[in-house]
Amino acid sequence: MISQEMNDSLTRVGKGSDAGEVLRRYWQPAALLDELDQKRPVVPVKLLGEDLVLFRDSSGELGLIGRHCPHRGADMCFGRLEDNGLRCPFHGWHFDRTGQCVEQPGEPEGSRMHEKIQSTSYPVVEKNGIIWAYMGPGEPPAFPNFDCFRAPGTHVFAFKGLWKCNWLQALEVGIDPAHASFLHRFLQDEDPADSYGKQFRDNAADTNIPITKVLRDYPRPEIQVDETDYGLKLTALRHLDGGQTHVRVTNQIFPQAICIPMSREMTITQWHVPIDDENCYWFSMFTSYTDPVDKELMREQRLQEHSLPDYAPLKGAHNNYGYDAAEQESETYTGMGLDINVHDQWAVESMGAIQDRTQEHLGKTDVAIVRNRRMLRAAIAAVKEDRDDALLMRKGLDLSTLFGPVSNDAIAKDGDWTKATAESDAARRDACPWDASV
Ligand code: FES
Ligand SMILES: [Fe+2]
Repeated sequence: MISQEMNDSLTRVGKGSDAGEVLRRYWQPAALLDELDQKRPVVPVKLLGEDLVLFRDSSGELGLIGRHCPHRGADMCFGRLEDNGLRCPFHGWHFDRTGQCVEQPGEPEGSRMHEKIQSTSYPVVEKNGIIWAYMGPGEPPAFPNFDCFRAPGTHVFAFKGLWKCNWLQALEVGIDPAHASFLHRFLQDEDPADSYGKQFRDNAADTNIPITKVLRDYPRPEIQVDETDYGLKLTALRHLDGGQTHVRVTNQIFPQAICIPMSREMTITQWHVPIDDENCYWFSMFTSYTDPVDKELMREQRLQEHSLPDYAPLKGAHNNYGYDAAEQESETYTGMGLDINVHDQWAVESMGAIQDRTQEHLGKTDVAIVRNRRMLRAAIAAVKEDRDDALLMRKGLDLSTLFGPVSNDAIAKDGDWTKATAESDAARRDACPWDASV
């Protein structure tokens, strides 16, 4: 457990807050590209507690500016998208994509007041289906050359979903390899042939054993955590009967993402993005190492569980997450259906908006959570001391050299799991139709 003061420091995200200032030193997913796919490409974005509006101007460029007009605060989401910018409907003040006011049509002729009026604005870039914003000081860092960024657009599908809780507890479920044996336990195994686009429905690595069975039968993983240039590498070992070891490598990408295997062909790289202190979005990039992603099918699968425009899950506290006692007895550990996203959502939302970590009791399997908090504390201290160059992936390291991160399931027949992971990753990269070489 930690003190209330420490909990506040690690979780709160507003401007000037401890963790908020660390998050602002990294590119943040702001919206899906799909969200702008409408006749009038203007959408509200709330990010790190700041109210913003994202739009595409008539030259096709993206702008992310303050949601409230600098004149008297009207909502720019209702702005007129014209003259290569966004015009406030209240008195017609007009802003370009950098947030500069370029016209005040109601002010006296010849007035140059607009030259001094600047809305908040942040740089944005699009990468493989996600629009990213940089909300920190100075130059934004480069993007690492992770597989989800360097794979061609045909091989990456992006989606997001709303969770009503603080971002850190959302991240912490992703760096907890032990929970999969319980929270995502299926009491029956499905036909892996029906697993496309789903997680934990495949066979375990090179075996004929469904991963659901491995997770169920071996609930006490040995967990190793290694520090890397991007964050943490988590290795979960399940020692099977007969001398084989199931190895699952997942990653934490500092400060708020994870990269995990989804199936034999895909990985998921997932950012937990604060909307404000008590709400967050997960943004996922599903990256295929084999065929192009069937985006239509994957979107359809996920839209069956989410409503637009907020990407709010259909299940939630309002309907008890679809909990069914009979299902809990015979089919799933949670009684909340087969979609593992709902399980994770229940776990993190049911803790309360911001988990009260003064009351928790961490065990051995929580090792990555402890290490991650330590890294976040060190980063908070560095930012306070104006040492941004001490932050992970901002240290002057050439980020184009940062591949992967390796994320897979493998079977070590002889106990050498490092070799088994490397071989399985190399085989995947060799067979990959896009250049995934390391
Ligand atoms: S409030 Fe926007 S122009 Fe007046
Ligand atoms: Fe999970």
